[in-house]
Amino acid sequence: MEKSLILVGTQWGDEGKGKIVDFFSKKFKAVCRFQGGHNAGHTIYKEDEKFVLHLIPSGIFYDHVSCFIGQGVILSIDSLLEEIKQLEAKGINLEGKLRISRYCSLLLPIHAKIDQLREDKKNSIGTTRRGIGPAYEDKTARRSIKAFDLEDRELLEQKLKDLVQYYNFQVESIHDSEPFKYEEVLANLISSYEEASRYFGDVTDSLEEIYEEGGHILYEGAQGTLLDVDYGTYPYVTSSNTLATSVGVGSGFPKSIFSDVLGVAKAYTTRVGAGPFPTELFCEEGEKIAELGHEFGATTGRPRRCGWLDLVALRYSAKLNNLTNLCITKLDVLDSFENIKVCVSYQIDEKETSFKSRQLHKVEPVYKEFRGWNCSLDACKSYDELPAEAKSFLEYIEDFVGVKISLISNGPNRDDLIHR
Ligand code: IMP
Repeated sequence: MEKSLILVGTQWGDEGKGKIVDFFSKKFKAVCRFQGGHNAGHTIYKEDEKFVLHLIPSGIFYDHVSCFIGQGVILSIDSLLEEIKQLEAKGINLEGKLRISRYCSLLLPIHAKIDQLREDKKNSIGTTRRGIGPAYEDKTARRSIKAFDLEDRELLEQKLKDLVQYYNFQVESIHDSEPFKYEEVLANLISSYEEASRYFGDVTDSLEEIYEEGGHILYEGAQGTLLDVDYGTYPYVTSSNTLATSVGVGSGFPKSIFSDVLGVAKAYTTRVGAGPFPTELFCEEGEKIAELGHEFGATTGRPRRCGWLDLVALRYSAKLNNLTNLCITKLDVLDSFENIKVCVSYQIDEKETSFKSRQLHKVEPVYKEFRGWNCSLDACKSYDELPAEAKSFLEYIEDFVGVKISLISNGPNRDDLIHR
């Protein structure tokens, strides 16, 4: 590996990034999360044991890898502590391996409650109900409690009082719900922080040190391009910038922007929550993809909506992220399909339109059909061993998107990977 690498999802999240980050981690000195929060759910299988990471970077399983959480991440200390405990219970040692930016805005139980109250109303976004939106709102509105605020008790108390007052007005007047108790919120926050305080530090300095010593860094994106708060299917998006270009601000290390960018895409498309999804299938084929792909959310357990691979959207993602390479995951899920489709254009009233259309919910997908390979890809260890039908499918994607496919995942296990 020549350079540092940014790994991003190119669809609506759940592209199977956890396994790919896990694979690359062993080649890097450090892995850094730079946006999102514990709405992410990165699934990794280690010696047949399943791990789902929400906040902690997927490099944590390797002793030589240092893990960082940059300031672009919205941090629930409670969720972090829970994750640390789960990892420690399974013998994973975190001592001296995890550093979190003091600049992180904190996600408090208040934010989760507000998210849930809003989601219970009509026209919801279908969020993970973790409080991500309200916590990012506070950050932008300059109301956030930052991790470094815990270093100054007087300042913390003033800020937290204002925050509780702000939300109590909302819960009482809009949601007709119980107000938050300031003393309780403060006590919980202080005790959680005390438990986690040894993990906070200066991420910028540490990443710079690693980089200056010639170490390469893997930047682990969460969610996916089409959920980006600016360039995704707004308002049906998450509240952070998920694009590779947000890595400089989110990690706090400006040289991160000179990294290669690997985009991860499933061989089909899924989405959780509400919002437009041009290639969504409402028939048996969609159900078959869901079943064979085990398409249930890693964070919430919600069933995912499923559809064919959307190359219009993938090409849009490739451009926005300036991808240097592509990784196609879950190719094996399509093993038993007689025919496989990919969307090659969108139409509204028989006129071609693009992903940038404000009427994505109305577009009719135009498909190209491929003959399926109709056999198991289990035994394929190299690109040459793939059936001709699978190769034509992959090469068509590559040509359409204009980015080389350098990695293919053909099963859930760590070594089910084909390099190219
Ligand atoms: P939030 O990020 O919880 O506010 O949710 C906003 C939207 O992003 C919803 O449609 C969620 O389902 C989606 N979302 C958030 N995180 C993920 C993820 O890790 N994978 C897939 N979808 C996600």
